[in-house]
Amino acid sequence: EVEKDPEYKSPIVCVLGHVDTGKTKLLDKIRHTNVQTGEAGGITQQIGATMFPSEAINSLTRKLPNINVNILVPGLLIIDTPGHESFSNLRSRGSSLCDLAILVVDIMHGLEKQTLESLDILRKKNIPFIVALNKIDRMYQWKAMQDEAFMTTFKQQQEHTQEEFIRRAKEAVLAFAEQGLNAALYYENPDPEDYINLVPTSAITGEGIPDLLGMLVNISQGSLAHKIKYKPQLQATVMEVKVIEGHGTTIDVILANGVLKEDDKIVLAGFNGPIVTNIRALMTPMPLKEMRVKGEYLHHKKLYATMGAKISAQGLEESMAGSPLCVASNEDEIVDLCEEVQRDIAQVFTHINKKGKGVHVQASTVGSLEALLEFLKESKIPVCSVSIGPVHKKDIMKAQGQIEKLKRKEYATVLAFDVKITQEGQEYAEQVGVKIFAADIIYHLFDRFTEYVKQIRD
Ligand code: GTP
Ligand code: MG
Ligand code: NA
Repeated sequence: EVEKDPEYKSPIVCVLGHVDTGKTKLLDKIRHTNVQTGEAGGITQQIGATMFPSEAINSLTRKLPNINVNILVPGLLIIDTPGHESFSNLRSRGSSLCDLAILVVDIMHGLEKQTLESLDILRKKNIPFIVALNKIDRMYQWKAMQDEAFMTTFKQQQEHTQEEFIRRAKEAVLAFAEQGLNAALYYENPDPEDYINLVPTSAITGEGIPDLLGMLVNISQGSLAHKIKYKPQLQATVMEVKVIEGHGTTIDVILANGVLKEDDKIVLAGFNGPIVTNIRALMTPMPLKEMRVKGEYLHHKKLYATMGAKISAQGLEESMAGSPLCVASNEDEIVDLCEEVQRDIAQVFTHINKKGKGVHVQASTVGSLEALLEFLKESKIPVCSVSIGPVHKKDIMKAQGQIEKLKRKEYATVLAFDVKITQEGQEYAEQVGVKIFAADIIYHLFDRFTEYVKQIRD
């Protein structure tokens, strides 16, 4: 483990874009993993983070014929976000700490609805980005050269395939122009300060990935050099809150600057007020492993930025994703820090019905819970209570109250997203007449409940 302050830290790179443009698949290709095929319905519904060490990047960027990439940063911390429309909260959160972004566009589809939404986020937050024009292998009679630099593979395509690419790239440039943005293929960019770089890629064949990584490193060490200098002042954000077998409720944290240590007294925002606790375990996934995939964790006494870390501690059950994470160095600081972390907690939780009328909602992470709540708010479905993790008898009892107190049968319902229903919970629900809707795809849950309410009301 590192013993002194590092000089450079890894830049934080966020991947944004419309659903199914290949964000997760691109990362899978670099990691040699298969995260995407393990996702329910093949859609991302959580924020993920992966550390890509410079050695892994170097082995790919060496293939670039005319670009020299001299890697100074320890690596890249890449944050994957969902493209599905329900998860704008996670796109926004994922981008909140990033230094740089990749906007993934499907070259066969051009700019789509969440591409525009992502563009909006990037412009509002003033985040520099490059565009991956992905799925180039889908062009007619494309001849793949696994993991090659784009120019190498482009030169050996047939003329009509090259022409198709040039036509589609021009269409993309036009579409960006319609959004008021200059864009150019990166190898013919007249002025990188003024024109967005388009990098052609394929997540299936790996073509163009050396170019993509090379660009990220060169931009980070060039125009963003001031951002990758390590700063000792702690800057960390809670990305997700979830129950992990053997660890209880844990928080996933992006450590953007500074250092975290085992036993540090941390302060973060909670549903019912600030949480003050001590770090029990400070963990990271293995390099090139995705934080959100269950696996082995490495334990650390001390972690320097940049890092995606998992923290276990007592009393994290009510943690709020999106909260800043602070460390109190003495007792006097605690009061101030409590105020600070609670200042801008998620607005959506203020819509939980105070009179206790509504359905009970349960989800695997606070991020997906927020997405669900936002949708239910728009659909005018009231929510009386929420919880994270598996559905137990005590959760069913919250919904049961709706039958007795309010005589509203439709609200005697538990909406369970991506969580297990315990057998005891299931049996109790059947016994008392509480309906459980469980799904691992967020919009299936909306659909089923709306149908059920219609049935009851007809
Ligand atoms: P969300 O996270 O749900 O928004 O999707 P995503 O952007 O992460 O896309 P994902 O990685 O899930 O890929 C969507 C589909 O496109 C999958 O079936 C992939 O196999 C396919 N795909 C992704 N990239 C490519 C590519 O470069 N070429 C081809 N042919 N297919 C691709
Ligand atoms: Mg994905
Ligand atoms: Na997908």
